Amino acid sequence: MTKNSLRELYIEELKDLFSAENQLTKALPKMTKAASSDELRQGFERHLEQTRGHVERLQQIFEMLGEKGTGKKCLGMEGLVKEGAETIGDDFEDAVMDAALISAAQRVEHYEIAGYGTVMAYAELLGESEQASLLRETLQEEKETNEKLTELAKAINVEAQQGDFEGGEEEPRKERRKTRKAA
Ligand SMILES: [Fe+2]
Repeated sequence: MTKNSLRELYIEELKDLFSAENQLTKALPKMTKAASSDELRQGFERHLEQTRGHVERLQQIFEMLGEKGTGKKCLGMEGLVKEGAETIGDDFEDAVMDAALISAAQRVEHYEIAGYGTVMAYAELLGESEQASLLRETLQEEKETNEKLTELAKAINVEAQQGDFEGGEEEPRKERRKTRKAA
């Protein structure tokens, strides 16, 4: 079927975001479990609550449109979640793991910010102002989450870096870990 209207594209992209948000509700608890910093864990927990709200807003929009949100899998988010899972499976020191989790989470936020910015613009053009304002609320929360992650990274990245020099004259921690493992 040829999709020849902006409205159809709008609905397709909403479905994509609906799939993305649902995938994220499953991935965030795993990221929370893998995080060591209390602040980062709380941040992930809070964003899980927000993400459930994002799913609800999209459901509201589908109701307004008389459409269903199901039937599309967001492959972009699938890839981001897979990369995140790879990170979690890596053998990182706590602070390095936290830094890597922030990196994965910020990729997710940027992806969502792009998606919501686009559908919000479509909604405005299509005269769906109520939907546009729901999408704007979510977009705002994604942006705030991204900014909080940037803030958290400031301390956590430094902590992760300290692992490289720990022990003064000693060899870097990474080397010591290798030795420990070999022993
Ligand atoms: Fe979201």
